[in-house]
Amino acid sequence: MTDYLAIDALSREALFTPLQLRDVVLPNRIVMSPMTRGFSPGGAPDENVAAYYRRRAEGGTGLIVTEGVAVDHPTALGDAGLQEQDVPYLAGDASLAGWRNVVSQVHAAGGKIIPQLWHQGAMRKPGSGPFPDVRSVSPSGIWGPLGRMTSIDAASVPADSRIGEPMTEEVIEEVIEAFVRCARNAIDVGFDGIALHGAHGYLLDNFLWEGTNQRDDRWGGDRRRRSEFPAEIVRRIRREIGEGFPIFFRFSQWKQQDFRATLADTPEELAEVLGPLAEAGVDVFDASVRYYNRGAFEGSPINLAGWAKKVTGKASMTVGGVGINQGMYDRDKPAEAVFDYAPLLERFANGEFDLVAVGRALIGDPAWAAKFRTGAFPRVYRSSDDRVLT
Ligand SMILES: Cc1cc2nc3c(=O)[nH]c(=O)nc-3n(C[C@H](O)[C@H](O)[C@H](O)COP(=O)(O)O)c2cc1C
Repeated sequence: MTDYLAIDALSREALFTPLQLRDVVLPNRIVMSPMTRGFSPGGAPDENVAAYYRRRAEGGTGLIVTEGVAVDHPTALGDAGLQEQDVPYLAGDASLAGWRNVVSQVHAAGGKIIPQLWHQGAMRKPGSGPFPDVRSVSPSGIWGPLGRMTSIDAASVPADSRIGEPMTEEVIEEVIEAFVRCARNAIDVGFDGIALHGAHGYLLDNFLWEGTNQRDDRWGGDRRRRSEFPAEIVRRIRREIGEGFPIFFRFSQWKQQDFRATLADTPEELAEVLGPLAEAGVDVFDASVRYYNRGAFEGSPINLAGWAKKVTGKASMTVGGVGINQGMYDRDKPAEAVFDYAPLLERFANGEFDLVAVGRALIGDPAWAAKFRTGAFPRVYRSSDDRVLT
């Protein structure tokens, strides 16, 4: 352990350089990855939520991407294996007052913070959530192919892939407006930008993936056309919030419906998926993988964030197993802290990505970033921590 620290002490400092994104300057490159908690009673974050995020900012995290925040459309939120009633919204007086408090506490501690806007799409369990009577929506009314390797428990996999009707133009427009409204609210309460959840089998990803998007109108077809719905959301948000604030877009190959799914099997195909999003106004691609240190495509060690940066020319953020010895969902061995940061720092030094997102290690220890900087031993994450208040 001591050897690792001696070797990489200098290069660890590289992660403590600022990054300017449009008019916003992030104090360093360590980002808290979005992680759902469900501690906002009735959808409004309270003092505990503010204290939770403030502690991460005090602990040296440069940017916090909040837990998934439901957009205010009745179809957005339901039981996706979570405490759905306490997932936050970004609409209504109580919710906005709560977020204003969260943002000001994080800013007072020297951090930046952006909300992750979330619509569960096909993953919303019908009959659950704050509006149990509405039908779940997805581009083609389907959950995805059945019988694949999934990350969710068998009881949550629908017996029939058809979960509703294909989204109508009217519902599509309503959902776009809900995203834009929440983005407006986010900027009004002081957030430093916007993050969009376009990964893991939720609504925006349902449009990107051919397993859930079988439309042949403006919103479906080849890869570029499947990107049109999230791209339209990005364009409309950009128009609403102006040029000063960064927009982050999270995407993933894997889906909860199908762990082995891919959006792109080559860098060229990735360019087709992400190109329209970059043109629409995305500033940072957040490539969600479980192990940052794996090559994304045959024949190259460059990871998915690296390829996102290469094919779009935009900034990128890596994630997955930083400071922890197991990927998300791999619980076959106990979690341990990992101190060999050399592979991460080498990739960073090579310009593969601009930001490093940390998930579970930052649940385990709010001061993870400060401890990473000095080489101190962090409190080690335990999976039972996922629902902690601290
Ligand atoms: C408890 C928990 C909740 C999560 N919730 C979200 C979420 O709301 N949105 C999202 O994009 N990813 C979510 N993730 C994934 C994390 O953002 C991150 O990508 C993942 O944990 C891998 O990073 P890590 O290896 O550093 O933990 C969640 C992960 C955990 C452990």
